[in-house]
Amino acid sequence: MAIALAIETSCDETAVAIVKNREVLSSVVASQMDIHAEYGGVVPEVASRHHVEAINPAIAQALTEAQVNWDHIDVVSATCAPGLMGALLTGLTAAKTLAMVHGKPFLGTHHLEGHIYASYLTDPQLQPPFVCLLVSGGHTSLIAVRGCGDYELVGQTRDDAAGEAFDKVARLLALGYPGGPIIDKLAATGNPKAFRLPEGRVSVPGGGFHPYDTSFSGLKTAVRYLIERLQKEQPDAPLPVEDIAASFQEAVVKALVKRAIAASQNLNIPTVVVGGGVAANSGLRAGLAAAAEPLEIRVIFPPMKFCTDNAAMIACAASEHFAAGRRSPLTLKANSRMGITQVMELYKP
Ligand code: KG4
Ligand code: ZN
Repeated sequence: MAIALAIETSCDETAVAIVKNREVLSSVVASQMDIHAEYGGVVPEVASRHHVEAINPAIAQALTEAQVNWDHIDVVSATCAPGLMGALLTGLTAAKTLAMVHGKPFLGTHHLEGHIYASYLTDPQLQPPFVCLLVSGGHTSLIAVRGCGDYELVGQTRDDAAGEAFDKVARLLALGYPGGPIIDKLAATGNPKAFRLPEGRVSVPGGGFHPYDTSFSGLKTAVRYLIERLQKEQPDAPLPVEDIAASFQEAVVKALVKRAIAASQNLNIPTVVVGGGVAANSGLRAGLAAAAEPLEIRVIFPPMKFCTDNAAMIACAASEHFAAGRRSPLTLKANSRMGITQVMELYKP
């Protein structure tokens, strides 16, 4: 049973974790959220600088909390793609240096694979095949997972990611950043049927709609028009923020649930795992569970702390590749844009 130490710095969390097989020994997350909230979104340059400051204390804390030292670590990994270039470089350089200094094997890990494998931390017995609905601030994808490194991108967003849509709608409503958790909370007291909003369907040539792809930018624009109309019609009335939040969340949840269920049924894969920050959404959790139950589709939601960015999921993904005998060269470069189907390029032939 290998022990993996992994570093995740692809966006605004400096995270280090130690995972033994599929058991988390420690998971440290130093969030920069409050710093970026001031700007209404992640500022790449600021993120890189904070990663540099936070990385060494996070590594030390992860080792202390796991009660292990370098003799116990079998493999070192870091997220190397995709993400913000400067941010990725901080974690990747730290991991390569540690691997070299301590004479340990090194693996670069794809960030989205991390989100896929977060479910292994919830169910250590889980094995492919399963469908992964990956919904984060930067990605919205439906992936058929057939083995470690064997992924088929079944569907994706054509424009905004689901989390990005939450963040942009929250900005339209002047609610703060990140918008997802705030909208989720407000939606709980709003009426999801108050306003009808488009579900984000994507037309295909020859007629009809794509069964799995989504478009959330039209939904965001529809919310903007709705706000403008309400403000024009009743300039003195406060905006029905809860109802707008609930109606918007309902539209996103409907779109995601429909596509995930369709993929599971059409591909004949009766397990759906959910990953990424939006997997924390209470509407999505309830909606997907309710739709899946009568169809006998198993749904796995990782706990909240493993839905948003963390390094335990990266260590888990790295462990799977490590067990399959894969290693990355120390010359591996960070890649800000890399598709999930390209992961095997990270390993030596
Ligand atoms: O996976 P993640 O931590 O970072 C990326 O790799 O993008 O996801 C962050 C995204 C943000 O857009 C945030 O608004 C969204 O996840 N999010 C939520 C919730 N919690 C976080 N969206 C909806 N409901 C939530 N409860
Ligand atoms: Zn992420």
